[in-house]
Amino acid sequence: MRKPVIAGNWKMHHAPEDARRFFGAFRPSWSGAQPDILIFPAAISFAAAQAALPDHPRVQLGVQNIHPEPHGAFTGELSAPMARAAGATHALAGHSERRHLFGESDRDAAAKARAAADAGLVPVLCVGETLDERKAGRAGEVIVRQLDAALAVLTPEVDVMIAYEPVWAIGTGETATPSDASGAHGILRRRLAEAWGGERAARVRILYGGSVNPRNAARLLASPDIDGVLVGGASLDPDSFARIAEAARP
Ligand code: 13P
Repeated sequence: MRKPVIAGNWKMHHAPEDARRFFGAFRPSWSGAQPDILIFPAAISFAAAQAALPDHPRVQLGVQNIHPEPHGAFTGELSAPMARAAGATHALAGHSERRHLFGESDRDAAAKARAAADAGLVPVLCVGETLDERKAGRAGEVIVRQLDAALAVLTPEVDVMIAYEPVWAIGTGETATPSDASGAHGILRRRLAEAWGGERAARVRILYGGSVNPRNAARLLASPDIDGVLVGGASLDPDSFARIAEAARP
């Protein structure tokens, strides 16, 4: 059985002091099984978040973005080995904001996922269709294309997570229904099974992201195809994120 993951992507929010305050106040109370908790702080707040992290092996930190090269003259960038050395365990690759605001291609996202894996980080490959693609009935085709680019450079031995984040649901207050999200997750898992075999595909955790909040998290997480959530806005407040974490299915 796949263990639920509750992940928070802080994007360009929370300076170091805010990160410290967040962990000072983040006190989820679990009645059942505890999910894995991941936070992706801004790189400049990583060390502060790490210093304030609750002493629990299931609460881990990741980075929001890496450069595919391990080092070099790339002003403003950070590499996967650096993130690993700083204590990160996970790295987002191909977040829709990277794809759509910063022009990253499927190949760029795949290269970053590969670089993360090479450095011992778990890549969290983000995929998702735009509203136009959805309206044109192309959602499945788009997410499979994005996944395929990564599968071309990853091997089944790599520990990887996938986050299905439909672009139209990010920061809009419009959430995919559990059945919409499950449908997309099913498409992704079937594609993984074709590439890596059913047994390996069954172990990959597929998260849903896009306007997840304390009111809709339990409904989404109740679906057996939704292994966790990747939360933006509602992860910034420690109480709201704790309530989402508490909604994880046992
Ligand atoms: P929101 O939860 O703010 O819609 O953001 C989702 C997201 O992009 C997480 O990576």
